[in-house]
Amino acid sequence: MKKGIILYQSKYGATKKYAEWLKEATGFDCEKTKGAAIRKIAEYDIIILGGGIYASGIAGLSFLKKNMTLLKDKQVIVFCVGASPYEEDAFNEIRTHNFKDALKDLPCFYCRGAWDSDAMSFMDRTLCNMLQKAVAKQDPATYEPWQKALMSAVGQKCDWTDRKYLEPLLEYMGIQ
Ligand SMILES: Cc1cc2nc3c(=O)[nH]c(=O)nc-3n(C[C@H](O)[C@H](O)[C@H](O)COP(=O)(O)O)c2cc1C
Repeated sequence: MKKGIILYQSKYGATKKYAEWLKEATGFDCEKTKGAAIRKIAEYDIIILGGGIYASGIAGLSFLKKNMTLLKDKQVIVFCVGASPYEEDAFNEIRTHNFKDALKDLPCFYCRGAWDSDAMSFMDRTLCNMLQKAVAKQDPATYEPWQKALMSAVGQKCDWTDRKYLEPLLEYMGIQ
């Protein structure tokens, strides 16, 4: 039987929740990407790496960038967690922005996360408030999906996490 591990990087808990649901569904081990030892990770056959999206970057992806040579014969799957509703063009942009060179052909899945201004660090809240103010100057008809999500989340507490977002990944693995 193939051995698998789920690595995750989560600031506000949504990615962690998806990682735990995946652990339940697959029986794989699960640990934080930060501090993961590549020598140990390279002993697994399947590596699923999940990260929250912050300003279009997928958290923890640098672990794969750094170690892809050692993982080249493994099955590596990525999932990313953002506040925006799924939208193909926006997702393709995230893909192009994050998956270059050795990461180019990795499969990547999208799960919708959560948003809680009160729980954010001071820096993140300030950044998001600035973004919201800048986007508010635009015509709402021209909003990108992430801008729509950002504007509808102003000062709100939203949780869009749902096991259904993991279905395509599990199907891809032949589990569902
Ligand atoms: C500073 C900051 C930047 C963000 N940028 C994006 C983004 O570019 N696209 C997006 O869909 N969501 C964005 N979000 C929303 C997060 O992706 C969302 O809260 C997700 O649940 C984060 O994962 P986590 O809960 O595991 O930390 C951002 C959130 C913060 C705090």
